[in-house]
Amino acid sequence: MTVRELQDKIIQLKRDTDTCILAHSYMSPDICEVADFVGDSYALSLKAKTTPQKNVIMCGVRFMAETVKMLSPQKRVWLANPTAGCPMAEQMGKEEIEQVKKMYPDYAVVAYINTTAQLKTISDVCVTSSSAVKICKAMPEKNILFIPDINLGTFVKNQVPEKNFKLLSGGCPTHARVDEEEIIQAKAAHPNALFLVHPECRPAVVKYADYVGSTSGIMDYAIKSDAKEFIIGTENSILQHLQLKCPDKKFYPLSKDLVCHNMKATTLADVYNCLKGEAGEEIVMDEELISSAVKCINKMIEYGG
Ligand code: 13P
Ligand code: SF4
Repeated sequence: MTVRELQDKIIQLKRDTDTCILAHSYMSPDICEVADFVGDSYALSLKAKTTPQKNVIMCGVRFMAETVKMLSPQKRVWLANPTAGCPMAEQMGKEEIEQVKKMYPDYAVVAYINTTAQLKTISDVCVTSSSAVKICKAMPEKNILFIPDINLGTFVKNQVPEKNFKLLSGGCPTHARVDEEEIIQAKAAHPNALFLVHPECRPAVVKYADYVGSTSGIMDYAIKSDAKEFIIGTENSILQHLQLKCPDKKFYPLSKDLVCHNMKATTLADVYNCLKGEAGEEIVMDEELISSAVKCINKMIEYGG
């Protein structure tokens, strides 16, 4: 079967089964083409609340599918490839953070959305890379315990100097792989290129940026910019999307190692098989867990909207 034939079957099956396909911007172009919506973590969370279909397939990683389920518990939600987890989301357990909270009782817990549902139950508000600065500014609390990403936390802390931050040492293994030497080399090789970077990268890399933002933020910036060359400091799939959308511009990877194997796990065949009920994992969550964990996601939407 050709890719086109498989896509046609997926589109037909979506209609027959009243299913909405949500895809994170890191998905490959063949998946994005059949998705009802493609976006960053924040946009996907908003979309989860409003899709009219009664079934949702998430092409992304597990915490994204869990977020959809928590925001729409009446819907049936599947993760297209059950092996797709976010390693950062698994880095810190609830018990560990409960201990840390005891050390900082007057700090509000701000959790990156890349966390487990269990951890969300003891967090005050969730954030995504595109909403973190706005939310940390908007929330009334002055003291913030930011978990788990130290790189995103450092970026937010620098943008919100009026508040006190405690950071822990978690982070994205993919983005943290890139060091300062690589951006120095990339800039030397492409002196006219603007550098667009995700805040999950190390501060030593982020300090060279012309723009810092989420996956969708980086894409929007590059598409709207009058500049013609860009070094892209996030998962390399974004480079591929941008090159397709802007054939007259040039995009260079910050590093060939910026590949998230978890995000790459989902294939078009997984989506097809999931729609047929032969693959994927239905997200099943305890009602009590949902009602406790969803509070900090709703707070994110309240402050960030
Ligand atoms: P976004 O919020 O930019 O979608 O990022 C999610 C993610 O996992 C980036 O690595
Ligand atoms: Fe998680 Fe990093 Fe992969 Fe994003 S790129 S899903 S934060 S491991």
